[in-house]
Amino acid sequence: MLSAVSWQENQLTLIDQTLLPEETTYIQLDTVEAVFEAIRKLRVRGAPAIGITAAYGLYIAMRNFSGDNREFFQQLDKHIAYLSEARPTAVNLFWALEALKTSLLNSQETSVENLKSLLLKLAIDLHSDDRQRCDDMADHGQAVIPENAKILTHCNTGALATGGIGTALGVIYRAHQNGKNVLVYADETRPVLQGARLTVYELASANIPVKLICDSMAAALMQKEGVDLIIVGADRIAADGSAANKIGTYNLAVLANFHNIPFYVAAPLSTFDMAISEGKNIPIEERPNDEIRKVFDKTRISVPDVDCWNPAFDVTPPELIAGIITEKGIITAPYRENIKKTFNS
Ligand code: MRU
Repeated sequence: MLSAVSWQENQLTLIDQTLLPEETTYIQLDTVEAVFEAIRKLRVRGAPAIGITAAYGLYIAMRNFSGDNREFFQQLDKHIAYLSEARPTAVNLFWALEALKTSLLNSQETSVENLKSLLLKLAIDLHSDDRQRCDDMADHGQAVIPENAKILTHCNTGALATGGIGTALGVIYRAHQNGKNVLVYADETRPVLQGARLTVYELASANIPVKLICDSMAAALMQKEGVDLIIVGADRIAADGSAANKIGTYNLAVLANFHNIPFYVAAPLSTFDMAISEGKNIPIEERPNDEIRKVFDKTRISVPDVDCWNPAFDVTPPELIAGIITEKGIITAPYRENIKKTFNS
């Protein structure tokens, strides 16, 4: 299994996902600025992987700090604010940074050297905690995957997007491991092709049958070939169950509803934002026009200076979602009430 993010010999190593699948290049990041750039430029992407990378980035920012305890926390806040600007939608970024700060404060530790060691330990723990959440989601998700299922997915939600086997793709991996004979249809996921470049790569490497489709083919696929279920990940889920995910996800949810196909979201509780009451308040990242004008900076496919509208995510309303697969089980409607119960359990 690939590791999008790893911490070895005191070094943060990422696979540069902008180069996949042609090149598997590992990059080592040793400054907080390099971590920021890697997140912003999608060298690492996927909500949980962004959070894990930022956690290591915070340690990298602080590891050479010298000063007193009060200055330590001032610097920490400064770097948290900086890293939080890398991307706006995936809540795992802010969640991870805040979780580290809260644990440092709660530790009552006063020695700066000990605070630094604790910060690294917390980042490593957060990483392995995500691995476990992926495994638990994969297990719970089996309840919705029949034998011989034809499954449609969007974007990339596997090992390249998380600290473990993935969210939506993790459920699919587990179904395959359990011998369910699944066939996956992967949306190419324009503009930057996470489906065509990353999901197909992951599934093909795991010998899971996969067919690549253009995003525009989803309706015809449902009408002509039949799809048993759709399963996607999320970048942020509001308290009412609205789910922000890669642009094009909402299209699939609308189509699924028309064709009576169950539409599932798989996401860990670290992707829920209980401070956001409704989906319309989730901040949506807008990315550079060139992502649409060109394919990954390589081939120019439109008039060079055409204006574009390029939101990276859309929000699927809860009434289109059959269930949200989490590490604690599958949450179904009424979402506001049942999400709250899951958090309190
Ligand atoms: O822009 P990206 O590639 O970071 O977008 C990723 C997604 O939309 C994923 O579906 C989401 O982060 C869930 S990943 C487990």
